[in-house]
Amino acid sequence: MSDQWDLKILCMGAGYVGGPTMAVIAKMCPKVRVVVGDISQKQIDAWNTDVLPIYEPGLLDCVKESRGRNLFFSTDLDKEIDEADVIFISVNTPTKTQGIGAGAAANIKNCELCARHIAKIATSSKIVVEKSTVPVRTAEAIARILAANEKSDVTFQVLSNPEFLAEGTAMTDLMNPDRVLIGGPQTPAGLAAIETVAKVYATWIPRAQILTTNLWSSELSKLVANAFLAQRVSSINSISALCEATGADVSEISRAVGMDDRIGKRFLQPSVGFGGSCFQKDILNLVYLCETYGLQPCADYWRQVIQMNDFQKKRFSEKIVSSMFNTVTGKKITVLGYAFKADTGDVRETPAMFIVRDLLQENAKIHVYDPQVTREEMWLEMNYTCGVNHETNPRLDEHVVTATDPYEACKGSHAICIMTEWAEFKTYDYQKIYDAMEKPAFLFDGRLHLDHKALREIGFEVHAIGKPDPVKFPGSTIA
Ligand SMILES: NC(=O)c1ccc[n+]([C@@H]2O[C@H](COP(=O)([O-])OP(=O)(O)OC[C@H]3O[C@@H](n4cnc5c(N)ncnc54)[C@H](O)[C@@H]3O)[C@@H](O)[C@H]2O)c1
Repeated sequence: MSDQWDLKILCMGAGYVGGPTMAVIAKMCPKVRVVVGDISQKQIDAWNTDVLPIYEPGLLDCVKESRGRNLFFSTDLDKEIDEADVIFISVNTPTKTQGIGAGAAANIKNCELCARHIAKIATSSKIVVEKSTVPVRTAEAIARILAANEKSDVTFQVLSNPEFLAEGTAMTDLMNPDRVLIGGPQTPAGLAAIETVAKVYATWIPRAQILTTNLWSSELSKLVANAFLAQRVSSINSISALCEATGADVSEISRAVGMDDRIGKRFLQPSVGFGGSCFQKDILNLVYLCETYGLQPCADYWRQVIQMNDFQKKRFSEKIVSSMFNTVTGKKITVLGYAFKADTGDVRETPAMFIVRDLLQENAKIHVYDPQVTREEMWLEMNYTCGVNHETNPRLDEHVVTATDPYEACKGSHAICIMTEWAEFKTYDYQKIYDAMEKPAFLFDGRLHLDHKALREIGFEVHAIGKPDPVKFPGSTIA
């Protein structure tokens, strides 16, 4: 700790977690110098403009408050590693695509590269904090790499401080977190390192919400939190299928079940399925861990959460095709929303992608409108996850059109699919949209987002997740 700063922090990884987390630390701790570093020049250049590389409500204002004061974005990692007292590792840890554990284990290659980079450069002692979501005992690997390269008078303490923010609400989550978790070695040096990091958070978060624990409990807690959240989504989604078969209404079930304090109201909203970069990856990671430790029944239990999610997405595509007289070939289908949830431009594992992929296979003409997602991001993810690209499908540009105007996207369409719960979708003039559509005009609501009664009065044929079909179950639609 030196010059005018109380502490110098470097965060390696300027993504959805590193950027917002560090912007909030910089805002709340003006005497801490915070640098967000990345190997991607493009990413860093964008953080230094007012067109940030990620969309998150409130983020730009927060960045602008501290940028150039005590918040900096840089690719000069060598210099910043050497200067930092505390280094957060917040790099991507995607599911492995090949080799041992492919399709399940998390690839911690980027974390290891960061550890090797720190070990090579550091000429003073550091606290190294895992913020990335990692398999249990990753800290051990990081600590070993660092220890193997320790120079005289240079020591490293490795901590775990998983991030619980949710995209779309990241800024409020970071300002008012339910808890902050810091795990570390239960040794005098480890406990001192935990206290250094805890003090940063304590600037704006009550101490009672800053939990400290050992490394392995901290690493595992993050995986378990995401597994529990995803499990609730899959649980209610499984019930949505049963509701459609029986004439029950899934919203009524959520209401009745959620009023039980032991269960709670949140995360009981059915949908076309969960997406995002974390839920599936973290559950697969948990499954792989269970298998590694010989706990096959535990692995099977958690894998089912993902299988239910896949079932829900597939069910939605099948519902579209079967409702539209078993064929969508040549029909214009409008997809409203492509991001995996509202208030983010993130398309990783977005359910919309799987629906578009399925409709492409049926030779539909798909028009997509999303207020934040660019065509480039859409195709990057589609290629990475589904292997669909311009080489495998030379007529891709003809079959999938991205629109900048929702009314244009819906004009002449046979069906509309609501894939993301963007607030603006509620404000559209659906009479105008209906008038410009082919008839019967179908609307498939994958988010239970719109007023179905009003849409039916206009003339739409509405199909919604977990809702009774008024033709099949007359008298069951809730007034
Ligand atoms: N996105 C979320 O909502 C969320 C929430 C909680 C936890 N997490 C976890 O946090 C971690 C980061 O997720 P993200 O969504 O921010 O990822 P991201 O892909 O948005 O960002 C990661 C960044 O790390 C950079 N990077 C990769 N290797 C690097 C290296 N060696 N040195 C410096 N920079 C490097 C990449 O260029 C990229 O910009 C993951 O482990 C994820 O599981 C994510």
